[in-house]
Amino acid sequence: MADKPQKLWGGRFAKSTDKAVEEFTASVHFDSRLFEQDIRGSIAHAKMLGKCGIIPQADSEKIVKGLQELLSDYRQGLVTFDPSAEDVHMNVEKLLSAKIGEPAGRLHTARSRNDQVATDIRLWMKDEIDAITRLMTEFQQVLVDTASEHLDTLMPGYTHLQHAQPVLLAHHLLAYFWMIERDKGRFMDCKRRADVLPLGSGALAGTGFPIDREFVAQELGFARISENSLDAVSDRDFISEFLAAAAISMTHLSRFAEELVLWSSPEFGFVELDDSVTTGSSIMPQKKNPDAAELTRGKTGRVFGGLMTILTVQKGLPLSYNRDLQEDKEPLFDAADTLRGALSVFIPMIATAQFKPDRMRRSLHGDFSTATDLADYLVRTGMPFRKAHEVVGKLVAECIASSKGLEDLTLDDLKSIAPELTGDALMLLQPENSAASRSIPGGTARSAVEKQLQAAKSLLSVS
Ligand code: ARG
Repeated sequence: MADKPQKLWGGRFAKSTDKAVEEFTASVHFDSRLFEQDIRGSIAHAKMLGKCGIIPQADSEKIVKGLQELLSDYRQGLVTFDPSAEDVHMNVEKLLSAKIGEPAGRLHTARSRNDQVATDIRLWMKDEIDAITRLMTEFQQVLVDTASEHLDTLMPGYTHLQHAQPVLLAHHLLAYFWMIERDKGRFMDCKRRADVLPLGSGALAGTGFPIDREFVAQELGFARISENSLDAVSDRDFISEFLAAAAISMTHLSRFAEELVLWSSPEFGFVELDDSVTTGSSIMPQKKNPDAAELTRGKTGRVFGGLMTILTVQKGLPLSYNRDLQEDKEPLFDAADTLRGALSVFIPMIATAQFKPDRMRRSLHGDFSTATDLADYLVRTGMPFRKAHEVVGKLVAECIASSKGLEDLTLDDLKSIAPELTGDALMLLQPENSAASRSIPGGTARSAVEKQLQAAKSLLSVS
């Protein structure tokens, strides 16, 4: 036994771990991010072990005190991690044992890293969801404030990126409010399912020690305890849900980003982004680039990638824990950082954006975006919609041939197409009137958008 290898839990091994294997399997360089959660979980576990008489009360107290000291060392930047101790859990145990000696060896009683890591991630995720939804609410507030300033700003509404019908800028901005509202709902839903304590499941089958799981759940602020130990150590659904919610949220921000990129181009000229959220070019002195918007669009891909990663990691795994599951953390952390980063740039980007009402209004000139209003007018005179569509389509073709907009037409021009048309049809050809007529709930008339804004504000006042 002279050259017994230096190895973690080396009792049954005759050889040290190969260096490449050690490096390949280590995770402390990323899971150290769970340090605080690991300490919290361990404190609750140690208290419970003492309370239930599973370890001596005196040792439980030493462990708790040692862990609290470690936490304060960590917060002061005094902790360094040892990659040969594999992961954050073993590092904590090692650091604790350096601090308090033998009693540290009792902490892992009635526990496995499998239920421990699942607990740590759930604790981390619950806090992260709170932080993300707080940022989302902040962003919604900016949308509401900006929309309130643009209740009379008319712009082209698009389908197929072609001018379709006039809408209010407030209406367009609030569309994103509702997307973010649903995003928040998805995260909050995900949090409800993550709010379950796995600790006590042991490696996979539970434990023979008389532990008190409800006590630990209460200490850690979990709503309930898991019902099945095999499920609890192998379930990562909650991470898939988080990544799906993050991917959907990024899609929304990416769409908005795309619009800001387009709108800030000279071809649109609908918005000028503030100097504080744009960047210059290394060669072209005139440039002001919407990089924060572009990178939001660009970084959406990595969150999608993270979702694919976590789904793929789980798809072929037999129950229960498999080491593959260690691959859950990097995509999770990366998606959370990316989403938080994107929200953090969108908040100032929209709050400081200078929208250009004149330019938006001018772009409606001659764009035929009130053609539907004219067809609807004919329908009200009794004409079937299909026929009205045809009649107005011909009128548009004639206008194009004579380089006119619909709003340039006289009553005689209109009557030559459809004698049913009278003077008030001319009014409909003004974009202002087109928008104002859409006063049904959810429509773009100012009266309807004001109601929408009210509904948005009251949601914010309760969140
Ligand atoms: N680092 C591991 C992970 O993240 C912790 C659990 C390890 N369990 C094990 N049986 N090797 O999944």
